[in-house]
Amino acid sequence: MQNRDSIGHVTGKSVYVDDIPEQKGTLYGKVFGSPIAHGILKKIDVSDALKTPGVEAILTAADIPGENQIGGIIPDEVLFADEKVEFHGQPIAFVVAKDELTARKAAAKIIADIEPLEPITDPRIAKEKGLLLFPPNTFSSGDIDAAWKDCFHVFSGQAELNGQEHLYIETQGAYAYPTENDGIKIHSSTQGPTHVQHTTAHVLGIPMHRVEVDVTRLGGGFGGKEDQATAYACMAALAARKLKKPVKVILHRMDDMQMTGKRHPYSADYRIGLDKDYKIVAYEATLYQNGGAASDLSPAVLDRSLFHSTNTYFIPNTRITGYSCKTNLPPNTAFRGFGGPQGMFFIETAIARAAHELNIPAKTIQKKNLLQENDSFLYGQVAKQVNIQSCFDTLNKHDDLDSLQKEVDDFNKNHQLFKKGLAVMPICFGISFTKTTMNQARALVHVYHDGSIGVSTGAIEMGQGVNTKMIQVAAQTFSVSPDRVKVETTNTTRVSNTSPTAASSGADLNGKATQIACTAIRERLLELAASKLNSQKSELSILNEWVYQDNKQTTIHWNELVKEAYLERICLTENGHYATPVVHFNTKTKKGHPFAYHVYGASAWLVTLDCLRGTYTFDKVEVVHDFGNSMNFNIDRGQAEGALVQGLGWMTMEELSYDAEGVLKSNSLSTYKIPDIYSVPKELNIIPLAANGPEPAILRSKAVGEPPLMYGIGAYFALYNAIKAFNPKAPFETDAPMTPEKALMLLYKG
Ligand code: MTE
Ligand code: HPA
Ligand code: MOS
Repeated sequence: MQNRDSIGHVTGKSVYVDDIPEQKGTLYGKVFGSPIAHGILKKIDVSDALKTPGVEAILTAADIPGENQIGGIIPDEVLFADEKVEFHGQPIAFVVAKDELTARKAAAKIIADIEPLEPITDPRIAKEKGLLLFPPNTFSSGDIDAAWKDCFHVFSGQAELNGQEHLYIETQGAYAYPTENDGIKIHSSTQGPTHVQHTTAHVLGIPMHRVEVDVTRLGGGFGGKEDQATAYACMAALAARKLKKPVKVILHRMDDMQMTGKRHPYSADYRIGLDKDYKIVAYEATLYQNGGAASDLSPAVLDRSLFHSTNTYFIPNTRITGYSCKTNLPPNTAFRGFGGPQGMFFIETAIARAAHELNIPAKTIQKKNLLQENDSFLYGQVAKQVNIQSCFDTLNKHDDLDSLQKEVDDFNKNHQLFKKGLAVMPICFGISFTKTTMNQARALVHVYHDGSIGVSTGAIEMGQGVNTKMIQVAAQTFSVSPDRVKVETTNTTRVSNTSPTAASSGADLNGKATQIACTAIRERLLELAASKLNSQKSELSILNEWVYQDNKQTTIHWNELVKEAYLERICLTENGHYATPVVHFNTKTKKGHPFAYHVYGASAWLVTLDCLRGTYTFDKVEVVHDFGNSMNFNIDRGQAEGALVQGLGWMTMEELSYDAEGVLKSNSLSTYKIPDIYSVPKELNIIPLAANGPEPAILRSKAVGEPPLMYGIGAYFALYNAIKAFNPKAPFETDAPMTPEKALMLLYKG
């Protein structure tokens, strides 16, 4: 089935927050952010700004009727700075005016009297000063202290890893207006409508039922709107309630880049031990997560770094400790992979380091240590339906890695100024929210008496195609044409207490809930059909809109069946509730079964490096990815390709740059380079692994949103291998991304 949104997207008809027809009298908000990264906020003078004609109000912390608190996991984040400012761009005031330009002009007249304090941007310095957002966390397995003596080779080092800007095409925004009965309605570009609803209610000091949040779709989220859409929804709602008028806020791109959190940069110390046969015996790492000025989702992101710190390898002895360091940057947040990419980057660094010292290809170590069926992860879960070896085997069948390596070696022998590099990147990603409670979803399904179907779920469409998948689930469960099914907006009054659409679990959780609701209605319809046909329900089924008895078509069509059910006063609506079975995790012992299943895959990256310029082209990427039984291969392949290229951008070109004052210098698209069509590998093959998906995956079609991002890590090490081919003396230094500048420096270093 084609993605339901494609035509709307290419014709410009798809509706985003800024496209919603505005009500008469709509006002526009502009956030006034802190001009410096750290200081004591002594006074805010809005008097001049307020005099600007067209300005209706300027709201600050003093105007909040509820609590000035928006922290999601830990209550440590204010909506508006009151006593201190802790990052450049931190919201201090919200200017509301008759149009956007007026609001902007007025905001420029606000004077914030701030006594500057020294900003900290480096997580290691923050850690030294004892600035942690929350207590450190450690995962361990085996007996690491005893294990080192069994190691034949031990290597240690330090690695730096930069963050990443989400760069969703639609910036953060919200449109809020008062409704009757003391209510407020918010159209928010959020992945978490319930988070918006709950936090807004808290800030406004009203119960959740007064706040209705509605989401049609997002112009991308990538995790950046799991929590961080909330602040702007709160501001619009606060102003709308105060002024009793509709208020809209849409961030300017440069404000969005400056004010919002990103993928967490990390710094790490690692130590890896191997035996004579290159089996990894021990792995220890200390991670310094750059959390920014408030916790936001950092505790959960750090957890996932620990969960994925052994990637797809079995390592018997481990100890990984993570510190979340408080710095004067915007609070960093969810970003596709949610800490997993960082955890996986460091084990790959440790392996590449060992390979470098031992003068063998990293692939030799990678392949020797692949996870096997029934191996335990460091968090205690026993690995089942492990597909990583089959991914490698399929990859080899498609493109023999040894002959590819030989081609690379031959090329490098015959070329002076161009060198090729090859790297292999396997992945293993756990599917489920690591916080067990969040693994639940609901769907509200109506069958209208003309036979058409309306489906509401908690899932947010953000380009990943979840709405199309929901249509497929409903259509397949009823065995009717997908044209009969409409997916409604995501609305907190229809589907409540939603988890954000995140953790790649949107289709699984909401699809299962939809399936449960549709199945319940279908069973009622079949019961009715049985009474009409004087038969047993067990003999009946619906197939392509007709009732079948013992595999023979009857005279009852879907339309008649539904109409008859209505006339007989049978309920044609159902609320399906799904909670992922089996998942559990003990946060004290750090052991359990947190994931419903794992997604596996293997990729091979081939790059050509221009050794005079430091520039490079990716010639080819081969991926064997475990989709399970993909329910929509066009969508899933699109997810794999998009994630892979996003990972490539993170690893090779996207460079966040803050100055010593904590001001983001890379705050526009002219200073922050994301991949474009020219950066995409010339040849990119996504080969689905032939394997059945597990039961908790919707229609056995595995979650696909995040895992392929981590293939991008292969881009970094392919480049590193090309550099080594030119300059065998190049030191092993890890500082991602490998921009052309960094590649050039390494080409001539040592
Ligand atoms: N694809 C598009 N086009 N846009 C997005 O914002 N977000 C990613 C991924 N794919 C995203 C995307 C992230 S971070 C997640 S968690 C999943 O989609 C969420 O959707 P799902 O759970 O339905 O896969
Ligand atoms: N993944 C993504 N988002 C989340 C998670 C997770 O595991 N936990 C809380 N938010
Ligand atoms: Mo995705 S980072 O879980 O929104």
